[in-house]
Parts: sequence; C-alpha cells; structure tokens
Amino acid sequence: MNVRFEPARALSGELRVPADKSISHRAAILAAMASEPVRIERYLHAADTTSTLNAVRALGALVEVRGDELVVRGTGLRDAGEPDGPIDVGNAGTLLRLLPGWLAAQDGCSFTLDGDESIRRRPVDRIVEPLRQMGAELHASEGRFPPLQVRGARLRAISYELDVASAQVKSCVLLAALAADGATTVGEPARSRDHTERMLLRAGVAIHRNGRRVTVVNADELLLDGVSVPGDPSSAAFLVAAGVLVPGSRLLLRDVGVNWTRTGFLRIVRRMRGIVLGDLEQETGELVGEEPVSDLDVAHGALEGTLVEADEVPLAIDELPLLALLGCFAEGETVVQGAQELRVKESDRIAGVVDGLRGLGADVEAADDGFAVRGSGGLRGGVLDARGDHRMAMLGAVAGLASREGVEVIGMDAAAVSYPGFVADLERLCGG
Ligand code: S3P
Repeated sequence: MNVRFEPARALSGELRVPADKSISHRAAILAAMASEPVRIERYLHAADTTSTLNAVRALGALVEVRGDELVVRGTGLRDAGEPDGPIDVGNAGTLLRLLPGWLAAQDGCSFTLDGDESIRRRPVDRIVEPLRQMGAELHASEGRFPPLQVRGARLRAISYELDVASAQVKSCVLLAALAADGATTVGEPARSRDHTERMLLRAGVAIHRNGRRVTVVNADELLLDGVSVPGDPSSAAFLVAAGVLVPGSRLLLRDVGVNWTRTGFLRIVRRMRGIVLGDLEQETGELVGEEPVSDLDVAHGALEGTLVEADEVPLAIDELPLLALLGCFAEGETVVQGAQELRVKESDRIAGVVDGLRGLGADVEAADDGFAVRGSGGLRGGVLDARGDHRMAMLGAVAGLASREGVEVIGMDAAAVSYPGFVADLERLCGG
C-alpha cells in the first residue's frame, strides 16, 4: 500500500502511543515461563507481538485476550511442549532471538523457528554461540540464518562477553540462565535496553548488574505478579520528530516509557536543542524493577546538528534513522558513528535512510557504521521506499509532513508491525 503525506501546517493535540513492543514480547514470553497465571495490561496488539502470542500458545501456554488485557497461563520454566511444526516468528526479530533462550532449557525437546522472507536474512549466530556453550544443540541455515533448530539440554552456567551490545542476545542468555546449573554472567561493550533484567527482578529472580555485566542465578520458578506495559518510546519518537519539525506544532504524548536505556533519542533531540519536556528516568547505577512512564510535551523549534558515538548507539538504536531526518532540518552537521548494527535490522537501515532521504533532496552520506547529514534547511519531498521495514515507513510519513512538496511512501502497511494506527493518529494530530 502506497500512501502520500502532504506538507502539514501544524500538529496539535494529545495522544497515547501504542504499548511498548519490546516489553510486550518479554511479558508474553516470561508469562509463558511462569508458574502462575499472569495478567498483562495494555499488551501491544500488532503483527510482531501477535506472533509472540501464537508462539507461546504453540508451546503450550494458554492465552486469553480480554480487550486491552491478556491473561497468560504458562507451562513453567522447564515444561514447554514440543509443537507439531515449526514456530512461526513472522517478522519479529526479538521473538527469534529471545525464545531460543527458553527453548534451549527444554531437556530432550526439539524446536524449529522460522518466519517471513525478511526474518530469513536476520543473523542468529550470536545466540547460537552462547547457547551451544551452555550445552544446547543448535543448527542454523549457513550457520547464521533461520530456520533455526534448537534441541534443549540440561544447561551449564557460563560467563559470556558479547562482541556487540545487543539487548536481544543478552536477554536470550539471561532466559537460558534461569534453568542452568549456577550463576551466569553476561557482559556487553555498552549498555543496552534492560527490560528483561527489570522483569526478572520483579519475577523474584536473583539478578544484579555491575557496570556492563549482569549476573543471574538459576531459579526454580518465575512468579510474576502482573505486567502493565507503558507506551512505546520508539513509536513516540516518530511523533516527537513530527512535532519538532513541523512549524507551529505542539503535542502531548501520554504515558510514554522513559526507562533510561530507551530514552537515548530524547536526550539527543534535547542536545540538538529540540523542545521535548518530560520526566525522563535518570541513570543511577542500580538495577530497578519498575518501568517508569512520563508524558512528553513536544514543540516545534530550531535544531542544531550533533555527533552520536558508539556508547550512545544502543540507547537509541531504533531511532537513529530519525536523527538523519532531523539532521536535514538542523543547522550544521549531524553524524552517527559506531552503528553498523543498523545494517542487520528489518532492512539495512543505513542504506535505506541514506538512499531514501537523498531521494527527497537531502545532503547525506553513508559510512560503514553510520551516516553524516548536512542540514540544508529542510527537504523537498518525493518518493520513499520503506523496503518492508515498519520504521522506515513511519520515517517516510514524518518526512512528508515536514517536507515542502510531500512524500509518497511505498509500502506504508509495514507500520502495522509495531504501530497499526499510525496513519490515523497522524491524520488526527494534523486536524484531519
Ligand atoms: C530489541 C533490541 C534491539 C532493537 C530491537 C528490539 C529488544 O535489537 O533494535 O528493535 O526488544 O531487545 P538488538 O538487541 O539486536 O540491538
């Protein structure tokens, strides 16, 4: 589906963005691993998180949908059932990387994970390596890609250093560690989102963080009281960008998750002198269980270019393409470095954003690990191909609203992966 976004006059009003995708995936998986039924409030009903519900059902969990609320009765940590056929993860990279952590601990059981055409290009070797060290047997196509076969075993506790900061890989090892034979430690080169750690802490697991290392002690069971999913800061980021870029805009976004490990983008926008008010969580060094929320008050204003380096990258990973868009409107240069991970997301997001924005009139260069944009006072407009990637589709829509001539987005339906009502929300904020 192709959709044209005309230049907007101003965006105004208030809105609750959809529930957090990362937290929804984790809530469904941990609830399936828990011993008692778990109530999940405001679960995200979008394509990716529906794949997760279907996956845990295939493993024996009961899922009852009651409007905005879900009740999941899991199978327990070590009693997932062997499904009849492959588990279909659809387009969900987070499901593909997290679930094998649990499956690896199902002693003697075999599972296959597969998904759509794009998921078959997403590497899984980073989870295969630590899970093999823990004692599970895994096979991936060409050693790297789905379909992924997992044969569970009695797992050994390990100490493991990730080469690249990745919350998905870290979470996979932490889930496997719950059923291992001692305490497992995972280290990463830079901090990444910590929703798994927070949820495990709330589920009664002995887990602690020491700088960039997390240690989790094996557990007999998970007891999760209930999960309330905050608004997704990554979905909110598209509206923040629209509010900051379109002259005259003023938006109030309600109940957005402001966990420090997810608000890198908002901190960078503030550094660019963008106006985003909100009570963002401060980093304290302590691992906490809570997922804080805040309203975000966004207003249009002039921007300055900035430099984003490797340490900041995992804290803003899904929003980095949006910084390229903001950079087109900012004074001076906006540079992102150390972000080679963007090449293995739902699409190659370095190529996608650089080709896409250049086609709309931007002055932008790709690097192996990022991009550099020279602000040119705005964007002309044109056509942007989302390449099947939800975040690229939403970026194209925002570019259209802020452009001089409008943007046609090829493949706007991809947005349904994380934000099904995105176009309708934009129309409402534009007064349509
Ligand atoms: C996610 C982690 C990030 C992010 C993805 C969701 C998660 O991936 O890009 O959209 O929920 O853990 P990596 O951990 O591979 O960087």
